[in-house]
Amino acid sequence: MEKLHGIIDTHAHYDDNAFNEDREEVIKNVFASGVDAVINAGCSIASSKRAVEFTEQYDGFYAWCGIHPSDCRYIKDKDRALFELETLLKKPKVVGVGEIGYDFHYPTPTREEQAKWFEWQMQLADRLKKPVAIHDRDAHGATMEMIKKYPKVKGILHSFSGSPEMALELVKLGWYISFSGVVTFKNAKKTKDAATAVPIDRILIETDCPYLSPEPNRGKRNDSSNLIHTVSFLADIKKITPQEMCDITRKNAINFLGIGKK
Ligand code: NI
Repeated sequence: MEKLHGIIDTHAHYDDNAFNEDREEVIKNVFASGVDAVINAGCSIASSKRAVEFTEQYDGFYAWCGIHPSDCRYIKDKDRALFELETLLKKPKVVGVGEIGYDFHYPTPTREEQAKWFEWQMQLADRLKKPVAIHDRDAHGATMEMIKKYPKVKGILHSFSGSPEMALELVKLGWYISFSGVVTFKNAKKTKDAATAVPIDRILIETDCPYLSPEPNRGKRNDSSNLIHTVSFLADIKKITPQEMCDITRKNAINFLGIGKK
């Protein structure tokens, strides 16, 4: 496969335990593979702090800081958590609030508990004028409802899994759609249709690594060097070259998040 340059991974989890054995080496290889910038997404206060540490350790790293809907159950002191989050969000290479949202795939935490944390963090993004990265698993309707409640907050639907109609509605609201390796899966026709529908100037790319490796590496541990497969797949859909697709998604990330500027 042709080597690309200037790839920006807008959502990754290099703090995950899956990288404990060889994190340094993997990150070195990622930057050698043509990736310019990585935004590491926090899922809790601890992992958001780790994401900020990465930004201090590596030139090409940026961070999302936020509390994932599945992780809100572990928070004992709400005010303290929100204060710590706000402090992290003011660090220089933190691009916005994420990942936040809804995960209705599992019965816990309850939808009510997830809604509280989603809303508190949307309010924080609103007040700090920061973009958000939204996790939406089996919760498309509720996610759209929350997004519309805060019209001044713009963001990214991460690892998009909704319909083409939902994607276009988000684009109309000024949002960006981020595709992970899922778009390359043979059983993900709806996601492919969404990628076909979304205008090219609103598409971002991400790994969500260590999860969601694109074909032909589906099922294996993922890292940002695999984005070449996702980019090539999207380029085919849009009938442009992989390098053009890479350049456009980089420009989109720079425009929206102000990252990767040299
Ligand atoms: Ni994620």
